[in-house]
Amino acid sequence: MIQRPRNLRSSPLLRALVRETTLAPSNFIQPLFVRPGKNERRPIKSMPGNFQLSVDQLVKEGKRTRDAGVPAVILFGIPEKKDARASSGTDPDGIIPRAVKALKDGVPGLLVATDVCLCEYTDHGHCGIVEGHRIANDASLPVLAAMAAAHAKAGADLVAPSDMMDGRVAAIRARLDETGFADTPIMAYSAKYASAFYGPFRDAAESPPKFGDRATYQMDPANALEALREVELDLAEGADIVMVKPALPYLDVIRRVKDRFQRPTAAYCVSGEFSMVKAAGAAGWLDEKRAALEILTSIRRAGADLIVTYWATEAAGWLK
Ligand code: PBG
Repeated sequence: MIQRPRNLRSSPLLRALVRETTLAPSNFIQPLFVRPGKNERRPIKSMPGNFQLSVDQLVKEGKRTRDAGVPAVILFGIPEKKDARASSGTDPDGIIPRAVKALKDGVPGLLVATDVCLCEYTDHGHCGIVEGHRIANDASLPVLAAMAAAHAKAGADLVAPSDMMDGRVAAIRARLDETGFADTPIMAYSAKYASAFYGPFRDAAESPPKFGDRATYQMDPANALEALREVELDLAEGADIVMVKPALPYLDVIRRVKDRFQRPTAAYCVSGEFSMVKAAGAAGWLDEKRAALEILTSIRRAGADLIVTYWATEAAGWLK
């Protein structure tokens, strides 16, 4: 007898009935960029549809995100000033604390996560404190911890360290616990690769390193066992959610992390993954909507519970 898998593909309703993977706005986190000023909405050229927003405009965008059914945003800050020690990043009145307060006051029902990393606040653009030409691991930890505490104090629902320094989850967890934020969860960028796909983001956050690259702290794209070790360490240090980043070139890593640890797993579909599809769509080379939904579905199929994606709000509209 001939086997007929096609029988369950014969209509949209039948296909939906046996679909294995679901994709819903409730799985999405929308990244947003906040800058100083008033009434600013500066288009990010390399990421069509994304903007550097002043706090007042951020609140508007936050409402739009929430009203589309997306439960959370993750904030990236462009500060007034940068220095060697990332002082503007640990300032309790810095750009991110101001943005968090405004969103928590102005947009009820929206979770606010914050990216915790030094690169947006350092004049050299590295994710840690620089000593000579080295990125000094242990000197970076108290600065990261102070940044996370400033975000939590402003009301952040979730802090997300993306720096890739060793021991930073433990340092942040300890500081949060000591300062009255034992209940603030940590989403760790655990397996963050040194990737070409961050290119457009560096434009958006104005954070490219002024010398060298990030290969001494971000992971080698060739390694998967090392990703499992990074995830294991972050979980042992107290991470509540672990993340793999980028997503599409690392679907195998997402699957292995999910299978091995069975913990809440996030994937970050990064700027380059977004912009290449946007560009191809604009050129008429593929259908952006279909390609985006296929990519996001593949990330869920690989095992991600949540997806950080620049398509969040737009895709929520598509999925209605
Ligand atoms: C900061 C940070 C980066 C991204 C998220 N947090 C840039 C980098 O590591 O160079 C990339 C996000 C994206 O490309 O969408 N460390």
